[in-house]
Amino acid sequence: MIKNKTILITGASGFIGSHLSERLIGNGNFLILIDNFNEYYSGKEKNLLDLTQKYENGKDFILIKKDLRDDSTLQEIDHDIDIIFHIAAQAGVRYSIKHPIEVMDNNIKSTIKLFEFCLNKNIKQIVNASSSSVYGNPEYTPVDENHPKNPISPYAVSKLCCEKYAEFYYRLYGLPITSLRFFTVYGARQRPDMAIRKFFDFILNDQGITIFGDGEQLRDFTYISDIINGVIAAGEIPDAVGEVFNLGCSSPITVNELVDQMYSIASKQKKIQFIEKQLGDVDITYSNVEKAKKMLDYSPKIKVSEGLKHHFQWQINF
Ligand SMILES: NC(=O)c1ccc[n+]([C@@H]2O[C@H](COP(=O)([O-])OP(=O)(O)OC[C@H]3O[C@@H](n4cnc5c(N)ncnc54)[C@H](O)[C@@H]3O)[C@@H](O)[C@H]2O)c1
Repeated sequence: MIKNKTILITGASGFIGSHLSERLIGNGNFLILIDNFNEYYSGKEKNLLDLTQKYENGKDFILIKKDLRDDSTLQEIDHDIDIIFHIAAQAGVRYSIKHPIEVMDNNIKSTIKLFEFCLNKNIKQIVNASSSSVYGNPEYTPVDENHPKNPISPYAVSKLCCEKYAEFYYRLYGLPITSLRFFTVYGARQRPDMAIRKFFDFILNDQGITIFGDGEQLRDFTYISDIINGVIAAGEIPDAVGEVFNLGCSSPITVNELVDQMYSIASKQKKIQFIEKQLGDVDITYSNVEKAKKMLDYSPKIKVSEGLKHHFQWQINF
């Protein structure tokens, strides 16, 4: 457990960032939360509501509503930071195909700005959120960290590029950075552009769902609480510094199997149409998490059958 630390979290009001912030608040920690509340999707204003109501602004946390790319954003901070979790990014494979320049500018520039800010400071650990998309279509499965990186979307290229900057700042300046490759995360507050959230929306509105491709693509869906356990471990275990880890569930299922389970949880009649596979989508995501198990004591606990039920409960009350 991380205690009595000053912690900077970027992307704090997003899906993963808000869960991380909630887990780290309290225990004597002081959180510096940064988010530009971008308009990629709406509703993220609610994500930090519990935290901001329960804890005291200025004493337990501060919230900086600014873009990481603005020079003034990080300069505003006058605390000595112990740990940084860099979660902010413009996510979304399909969005990145339509807006490659914006995604490159946001993800790469904000990451470099953050690493530059860290130079000559006594920051103990920096965790950089990366993505399984850096692997592209796997040459073998399960995919370990040494698998070749063949990204097939501008988003994936930008995440790989940020990892390379992390490696560079670690090698050249000794910045204590760890990169984590998340495999399709789901649970309460999942982004509305992601499959499970979208599918439940359609199912609940009796609209029927559209699957890209034949539905036989494998996805390693990973429940949010498991991801947060891995992220926090990476921020406190000194041996994690300079390393890259997969954080997945390592039990992939096909999209067809996923959808069957979702209809059954919602007790609705199946209504599905299949359309052409989308550009940028990989055929398989399937993580090997042995390295994280050994070095981070990571152990994904929530199977999709259980996680989907939690996700559904959240979504029907949203
Ligand atoms: N959700 C997943 O399944 C998944 C999988 C792999 C990797 N990731 C990575 O995890 C991280 C979080 O993803 P998420 O699903 O929570 O996305 P999200 O969009 O919900 O959260 C990202 C947050 O960052 C903020 N942000 C974006 N650009 C910013 C900037 N320049 N300055 C300040 N704030 C900025 C956004 O407003 C948003 O609140 C991202 O780095 C993403 O690439 C997510």
